Amino acid sequence: MAPVSLEGVTVVQHPLIQHKLTIMRDKETSIASFRRLLREIAHLLCYEVTRDLELENIPIDTPMQAMEAPALKGKKLVFASILRAGNGLLEGMLDLVPAARVAHIGIYRDHETLEPVEYYFKAPSNLEDRLVIVVDPMLATANSATAAIDKLKERGANRIRFLCLLAAPEGVERFRNAHPDVPVFTAAIDSHLNEKGYIVPGLGDAGDRMYGTK
Ligand code: URA
Repeated sequence: MAPVSLEGVTVVQHPLIQHKLTIMRDKETSIASFRRLLREIAHLLCYEVTRDLELENIPIDTPMQAMEAPALKGKKLVFASILRAGNGLLEGMLDLVPAARVAHIGIYRDHETLEPVEYYFKAPSNLEDRLVIVVDPMLATANSATAAIDKLKERGANRIRFLCLLAAPEGVERFRNAHPDVPVFTAAIDSHLNEKGYIVPGLGDAGDRMYGTK
């Protein structure tokens, strides 16, 4: 299935992604399987979010002869993980792009107010010269995602994409209003957010399901 594109939002509807996502949603799925599936889906999403990266020809010698062969152009990519659940996607992204630089952004949402609280930010230099792909499995209220991207832009990032596993329509709308220049890639857009800010039907708390916490 080809990706479905809304305004600035790509829903990557590959059958393998949809199948794996169904297993992740199931509350009986083990922590080990949940983590492995997230990593596998990250591979497939990474393929899509990097589909249009620019190439340049570089000279190499094969065992047979010299040739000009395509290689990724420009400075290394940055994957920016919104802690902690972002790390589940990050691992899979790094499997495919091992030379990428990594930013860690520590933001949690206050369970009362649902507002983002930042406690950590560490990013590579020269963000202005790099494509930054921000990863977080759940685009729910979009509070953390918009705050993370505010911060990356303050530090100079000007080419940013956002990659998640599941999004709520409310989160997509809020995110697109806050950052219309940042394309969103997701495996699915679910029905709605509940009063506690959880995506419905969703898969529960991604961080808890990855790390076995409550
Ligand atoms: N974060 C999660 O982990 N799950 C949700 O449903 C919403 C935000």
